[in-house]
Amino acid sequence: MDGNGRWAKSRHRPRLFGHRAGVRAIRPVLDAFHERGVHMLTLYAFSTENWRRPDDEVRGLMTLLGETIDRETDELHANGIQIRAVGDRSRLGERLQAKIRMAEEKTKANTAGMLNVAINYGSRHEIIEAFQDATVHGVSSEEMTEEILSSYLYTRGIPDPDLIIRTGGEYRLSNFLLWQAAYAELFVTPTLWPDFSPTDIDEALAFFAGRERRFGSTSEQVDASRKEKRA
Ligand code: IPE
Ligand code: MG
Repeated sequence: MDGNGRWAKSRHRPRLFGHRAGVRAIRPVLDAFHERGVHMLTLYAFSTENWRRPDDEVRGLMTLLGETIDRETDELHANGIQIRAVGDRSRLGERLQAKIRMAEEKTKANTAGMLNVAINYGSRHEIIEAFQDATVHGVSSEEMTEEILSSYLYTRGIPDPDLIIRTGGEYRLSNFLLWQAAYAELFVTPTLWPDFSPTDIDEALAFFAGRERRFGSTSEQVDASRKEKRA
């Protein structure tokens, strides 16, 4: 969720002030998506590249992640939301790992919605690890299929995203769900994450509704199959 730093800078405040505002933006956004019938969301909270940031910012972000899990898990659980972390958690602190495990364990049987949080997530690393893991489990390179590889990704069991929203105006995926995003629609908004609001969500969903999703087929084929379905 991009733009916390710029949001803080424009207010002459430290970056961490922006990250705190970014955390406050999450709840209303989740609620607004839920009201609009979107029950499956993945938030890109911390990438494998974010370790390169100054030590105090990394520490601050990690503290914030832990605090947010502590504060939000019970209510998400009460709303029937399943929480899942995607990413390489082995590099996270022991205490943060324990909090993640606790939140996942508590909410694992929930079915009203799913909130995935990408923490120490990097898509290329994920794909390599999935391939290695599959090999360890006896899958030979000849046997490998898209379905098998998908089942070894951090996102196993989570459907591919239909829509990716990028805040902060950047036109790139930044190592996010590269495999899973093969057919995702991309919506880029200049809105900085702490300002991201239900109005931006409506814009993103209107954009999505206006896209024709062909998955490699032609428009004519899509029209024909629609007619067939109606018949
Ligand atoms: C949040 O936004 C990203 C993370 C939580 C790591 P940024 O910190 O990248 O914000 P900008 O790009 O400096 O505005
Ligand atoms: Mg940024």
